[in-house]
Amino acid sequence: MSTIPGATPADTPVALIIGAGSHIGRAALSLLRAQHPDWEIVAVSRDTATLPAMPGLHAIASDHSEASQQAVATRLAGVRGRVQRVILCLGVLHNAQLRPEKRLEDLHQDSVLEYLRINTVLPALWLKTLLPLLSGAQACSVAVLSARVGSIADNRKGGWYGYRASKAALNMLLQTATIEVARRRPLAVVAALQPGTVQSALSQPFVGGDAMRPEEAAQRLLTVLDALQPTGRALFVDHQGQSIPW
Ligand SMILES: NC(=O)c1ccc[n+]([C@@H]2O[C@H](COP(=O)([O-])OP(=O)(O)OC[C@H]3O[C@@H](n4cnc5c(N)ncnc54)[C@H](OP(=O)(O)O)[C@@H]3O)[C@@H](O)[C@H]2O)c1
Repeated sequence: MSTIPGATPADTPVALIIGAGSHIGRAALSLLRAQHPDWEIVAVSRDTATLPAMPGLHAIASDHSEASQQAVATRLAGVRGRVQRVILCLGVLHNAQLRPEKRLEDLHQDSVLEYLRINTVLPALWLKTLLPLLSGAQACSVAVLSARVGSIADNRKGGWYGYRASKAALNMLLQTATIEVARRRPLAVVAALQPGTVQSALSQPFVGGDAMRPEEAAQRLLTVLDALQPTGRALFVDHQGQSIPW
């Protein structure tokens, strides 16, 4: 396969994984490759060196900033109208600067804004960037990894202010965008997916050994995604296909 995305015949479907270096993203990448050996697969990550080696993979480096997203869109001009799967995996719960807040006194402007930047704004910008690439003629699905803790209705424990708020705001942006997507790509499904508690860098300080392996989570998510039908509204569903209250 060519290293230029879109150099295959025009009816070759394309899948995009954004934040593909995430544990769930890498697992989804391997699974998609196995399920669709004839598709073009594009993986976008800050660090393409972490991506699994596989035939026919277009690995594109991006820091997910708005300018970088535009550069990726330019490189993907050849797949316009051919994308049938998008999986947006980027997200942060902790890093050198961020710790999920345990109580109100832990709340700080900079950390809340950073959660919102990475978990809310960047995925929404990706949706904007990728919309022109989505297939209009074939069914297509856009999965954005959200989190059950982003459910306002389900919040009984409190804590994790910034992460919860960023995922709740992400869900609202998805719902709003889906109303527009439904007009422009009526066959498209947009889903906020809850992957379950999964072994990853993001979850590692907070979970025990019973967390799901990323491969199992990816399998469940792709199965759920494939079964969803467009409704004109965004769907908020878990890895078992169960709806989550917004
Ligand atoms: N693991 C769980 O239990 C769990 C539960 C609920 C929801 N989720 C959600 O599932 C998604 C994937 O999580 P994961 O568990 O696979 O986590 P992970 O392995 O830690 O991956 C998170 C990815 O997000 C991107 N990212 C992280 N920090 C960033 C930053 N500062 N700027 C830009 N991008 C950044 C990176 O993608 P690249 O390096 O590829 O660019 C990173 O690989 C996240 O949205 C998370 O909120 C996970």
